[in-house]
Amino acid sequence: MTRIPLIAGNWKMHKTVAEAEEFIAGLLPRVSSVDGVDVALCGPFTALQAMVDSTRGSRVEVYAQTMHWTTHGAYTGEVSAPMLTELDVHGVVLGHSERRELFGETDRELQKKVPAALEAGLRPILCVGETEQERENGDTERKLRHQIQEGLEKVPSERLAEVVLAYEPIWAIGTGLVATPQQAQDAVAFCRALVADRSAEQAQGTRILYGGSVKPDNAAELLALPDVDGALVGGASLEPGPFAKIVDAARA
Ligand code: 13P
Repeated sequence: MTRIPLIAGNWKMHKTVAEAEEFIAGLLPRVSSVDGVDVALCGPFTALQAMVDSTRGSRVEVYAQTMHWTTHGAYTGEVSAPMLTELDVHGVVLGHSERRELFGETDRELQKKVPAALEAGLRPILCVGETEQERENGDTERKLRHQIQEGLEKVPSERLAEVVLAYEPIWAIGTGLVATPQQAQDAVAFCRALVADRSAEQAQGTRILYGGSVKPDNAAELLALPDVDGALVGGASLEPGPFAKIVDAARA
């Protein structure tokens, strides 16, 4: 089964509406001729409407960076799936390590959020990954198993391939330290094997991204790995030039 690579830029808490529009105006001409690669930008809530409007008719999809699992209610500060789909947002990043570490998001919450996104018609990108300490202790696989099994538990088996997984070793995020190709391939293949425990067929169709200090000069090597189906890019997604180079590197 062919898996179309996905290059997703996670802007985190960057970009006003004006900055988002300027970025998109710079990006679209650079990626318009790149075939066979899906491109997504994960923006802050406040810029999503403008991002959808300025990417309409292009290959670039717009994702949010988190959401709540219910449709509405007394959850001050939260945003729900229907609020995102109303804007024509295509997907949502769930379980980013920054949300887990800094804002206390749990696997139990993600177990509700991932199916809630799918039911609403949003494509979830579920992020998983180990800390430096966990890797040193030999706990990488235990951590990934826990995060993936819990996060996907309530996803029906026949819909597993609709969930994109992103393996982001926490020690590689924003540090300039990138996983070696062997480390990335081993971890991503392990993630795929965990999906295969539920459905071998769905695992073959599941896209698994690598994230953590992906840059124009290391992207091609990572994207060529057999089980890596794209990248979740932080810092290098903030300027159109470097981001477009990473998109280009995903071309088969
Ligand atoms: P960097 O690319 O800045 O390391 O960030 C990775 C990340 O967290 C993407 O979600």
